[in-house]
Amino acid sequence: MFKYQATDLGLTLEAEIDCEESLACIREVFGDKRRYLQILANFISNSLKFTDKGGKVTVSILILEQQEIKEDIENNALQKYIKFKMIIKDTGVGISQEGLKNLFVDFNKLEENQQRNTSGTGLGLSICKRIVEQMGGVVKVESTLGVGTEFHIDLRAKTKHIVT
Ligand SMILES: Nc1ncnc2c1ncn2[C@@H]1O[C@H](COP(=O)(O)OP(=O)(O)O)[C@@H](O)[C@H]1O
Ligand SMILES: [Mg+2]
Repeated sequence: MFKYQATDLGLTLEAEIDCEESLACIREVFGDKRRYLQILANFISNSLKFTDKGGKVTVSILILEQQEIKEDIENNALQKYIKFKMIIKDTGVGISQEGLKNLFVDFNKLEENQQRNTSGTGLGLSICKRIVEQMGGVVKVESTLGVGTEFHIDLRAKTKHIVT
């Protein structure tokens, strides 16, 4: 879906999420794995929207740590956890210092981007941040005007299998 959109816009979308390890990690995460992909999709669509022709959007998922914790002492069972990071990086218009302060505010679309962003609702980022935080995760952003933007989503989730 995004590949099609990116080609249409004359952009390069480089997804490193088809790497076996990353996919296995997402696949094995307990709960609704679609939730993670939906969050990811929100950030990717922003990057595509705010990157000009010839630019590049890179998506990667990294496994940071895997743990086995004895939660159920009676049954001696181990619960497996996985800490992972989703990174969405673009070479787009970037966000100003002022913009970064208001980035996650509900309904907020930055003044600096008004022209290219007539259709947005300004809700995507604030909702995604809230959902990630409810899941115990953190969203971080680094951006330079005219250079690009990088979002990091750090998450920890229960998993069925340790990925080796
Ligand atoms: N990758 C990005 N590069 C530049 N600006 C961005 C990026 N992602 C988000 N923004 C800015 O943050 C605002 C809020 O994003 P979002 O909540 O997803 O709203 P929407 O996409 O509906 O405008 C956007 O309107 C835009 O100004
Ligand atoms: Mg959006």
